[in-house]
Amino acid sequence: MSNEWVDRLGGYPSLWRRRHLLGLEELSAEEITCILDKATIFKQLLAEGHRRIPLLVGKTVCNLFFENSTRTRTSFGLAARRLGADVVDFSAATSSLSKGETVIDTARNLEAMGMEAVVVRHRTPGTPHLLAQNVHCSVINAGDGAHEHPTQGLLDIMTIRELRGRIEGLTVALVGDIAHSRTARSNIWGLKKLGAHVIVCGPSTLVSPRWQELGVEVSYHLDDILPRCDVLNLLRIQFERQARRPFPSVREYVHLYAMTRQRMARTKPDILIMAPGPINRGVEMTAEVADGPQSAILQQVTNGVAVRMAVLWLLTGTPRLAS
Ligand code: CP
Repeated sequence: MSNEWVDRLGGYPSLWRRRHLLGLEELSAEEITCILDKATIFKQLLAEGHRRIPLLVGKTVCNLFFENSTRTRTSFGLAARRLGADVVDFSAATSSLSKGETVIDTARNLEAMGMEAVVVRHRTPGTPHLLAQNVHCSVINAGDGAHEHPTQGLLDIMTIRELRGRIEGLTVALVGDIAHSRTARSNIWGLKKLGAHVIVCGPSTLVSPRWQELGVEVSYHLDDILPRCDVLNLLRIQFERQARRPFPSVREYVHLYAMTRQRMARTKPDILIMAPGPINRGVEMTAEVADGPQSAILQQVTNGVAVRMAVLWLLTGTPRLAS
């Protein structure tokens, strides 16, 4: 498979042997760096104005989303189309799931129509892993419950590397609803493998001390950690996943954990403000912080397309993958 686009990408990496992307926990630092390097080249190609990089012509990617999404679903679809693949957008709401068909049977039937990759989001942790054991095509985890969201972790790390030039030695704080966050886990695995110091910070109802077992620092006091952070990734309070509110009032959460102009004054001058989106404006941060000069939030979204192009190409762009 030699063509000008593969050459521009520096060739298909010999270290890449995976058929699925289920989480960052199982990837090595070299594999993560490989995805980031390829994504950086894809981003450059897009910036040069290339809107069609036909590396996956004749292949089909299926978006199999059982939960809502704006960024992930759209950018996987866009990434696949930029690579020349066909895209099938499966709608759970109007599917035969309502007649009792299982998720596995649904995926098998879609695969039987000729899919090379299934991008799956499901509220139940482990669903992508289950599908990977039951289909022959590539399975990409687009978020499974509170477990992992590997492409979100990758695009977050790509954005930090792009803006800071490195990951090693940086202090990155994940602030907010850690308990319900698949983004937190993927960030932790990826950032730690690349040498960052990671802090998880939020109310004790949303941040268990057991997070230390993953090798991260746990803090309940944002004001204490602010001056030593290089990056703040502000995670959304996932009200929809909580039967009971984990703090007395939103006002109290804002008082203790929201990034405001006053708190920005206490950070390093080059602090990066990030958020996986969607954001609750006025809860995790004020609008002036979200839209301010230190915010990288929309750059994260831009990088999501390049990361997903890299992932789709690595997983399905060559016939020589084994497992
Ligand atoms: N960050 C993220 O996963 O956003 P969506 O839920 O809109 O895909």
